[in-house]
Amino acid sequence: MSNTIRIAVVGSGYVGLVAAVCFAEMGHSVVCVDNDQQKVDALQGGDCPIHEEHLPALLERYRNSKVRFTNDLAEATRGAEAIFIAVGTPQSGSGVADLSYVEAVASEIARSLTTYTVIVEKSTVPVYTNEWIRRVMERNGVAQHLFDVVSNPEFLREGTAVRDFLHPDRIVVGTDSERAAAVLSKIYEPLTTGSYYEQPSAIDGFCTSHEPPPLLLTSTKSAEIIKHASNAFLALKISFINAVSNLCEAANADVEQVARGMGMDSRIGPRFLSPGIGYGGSCFPKDVAAFRCVAEQLGVDFALLAEVENINKDQKIRFLNKVRSALWTLRGKKLGVLGLAFKGGTDDIRESPAIEIVQMLIAEGCPIKVFDPAAMERAEQVLPSSSSLQYVSDAYAASKDVDALLILTDWSEFARLDLQRLNRLMRYPIVIDGRNLYDPELMIENGITYFSVGRPTKHHVHEFAAAGAN
Ligand code: UGA
Repeated sequence: MSNTIRIAVVGSGYVGLVAAVCFAEMGHSVVCVDNDQQKVDALQGGDCPIHEEHLPALLERYRNSKVRFTNDLAEATRGAEAIFIAVGTPQSGSGVADLSYVEAVASEIARSLTTYTVIVEKSTVPVYTNEWIRRVMERNGVAQHLFDVVSNPEFLREGTAVRDFLHPDRIVVGTDSERAAAVLSKIYEPLTTGSYYEQPSAIDGFCTSHEPPPLLLTSTKSAEIIKHASNAFLALKISFINAVSNLCEAANADVEQVARGMGMDSRIGPRFLSPGIGYGGSCFPKDVAAFRCVAEQLGVDFALLAEVENINKDQKIRFLNKVRSALWTLRGKKLGVLGLAFKGGTDDIRESPAIEIVQMLIAEGCPIKVFDPAAMERAEQVLPSSSSLQYVSDAYAASKDVDALLILTDWSEFARLDLQRLNRLMRYPIVIDGRNLYDPELMIENGITYFSVGRPTKHHVHEFAAAGAN
């Protein structure tokens, strides 16, 4: 086996595109296939469809050399030693993952397979999908010795996708075949041996040639469950700290101190313990629901997952109520909103709690001025065009003459605002922060009344006295 593996990646969405480009960066020869001709043309022409650090540079370096884009699946998979399926697995009405794209791709691959090929599930899929792909291949007349199906889940986060791919905590390879395990081990060898990190042009991250990432070999079913269980557990951590933040509010304690104290226990760890307005994005909401459905289908009572979802839903309502209790009545109150993306560093608004909160505020009759550094164009496509919603060019424009300023996305630039300037711009200096980006004391020093999540509210004294006098 040569060091360069011929790889086909089916799907040029978040995971597919990042995987394709990163495999090229690892030295492999990649064809990325998508049935959306417009997308293929754009990628071939040098467009980068997502807001992602390092991706435009890597695309520029490898486009039409080590990574080719096509809409011809048969052509892309011909001669490939491994085919990564990275198509969408959207949520259906009941929460079950819709696997029709995966099935369609598997049947199509079956038609063009002539030599031994490893078919790799990269999309997030429920346990047993592997077995279904195998059955689809066999039903379409592919001999058993011509393929193996492997589960190789991806753990990248939006915003840091390239770095996460090349510097993973672990690489999970689920397979029951030694031959397939050898192909996957070879593909990831530049990372697992550490040779990639010695290259001068390597993307920086926490892995090094001395501390390369481990490759964990498991059964196919275990690998499928690892992906769902990991996302569900991270979502659980977020819902847990959100529930604790509600308790802190009731007890007049500070959830940031509580999270710090909990996170210092190495068994708990400090990450994913930031309270806020609930998790969003294209993964956690969908994957928690899908995992709950998998449990149900297998006859397992996993009620905890439903509770994770309930807490997440409530968190947005609680925030709305916080705005209401800060301003008394909502109708006609002018609000500035910072953030629309589901988290900082991305233009993605899928399942964004910020979008939902903006929708609720519009329904309450609040005129809104909103700013997001990357997600406004996408938001315009889903939010109603209305005279009460104005998109503005920066955080200060969003603050001008408003009754309160709301922080809904944790963009780092929102944590570094000129607070004196904000104070002067706002009609009433009130900030309601759904992401706890500021030290409450600092807000008070700058004359701003500050509401945040799970921390005692800090009223600016003059404003408080004035309110009391009315
Ligand atoms: C998530 C996982 O973190 C990745 O490991 C996984 O590969 C990916 O889903 C996927 O399955 O494809 P991502 O959706 O990009 O990645 O976003 P996260 O950074 O995990 O954030 C998810 C949501 O949780 C965001 O709305 C974020 O604001 C929120 N969050 C995160 C919190 O409210 N508190 C936290 O402490 C952390």
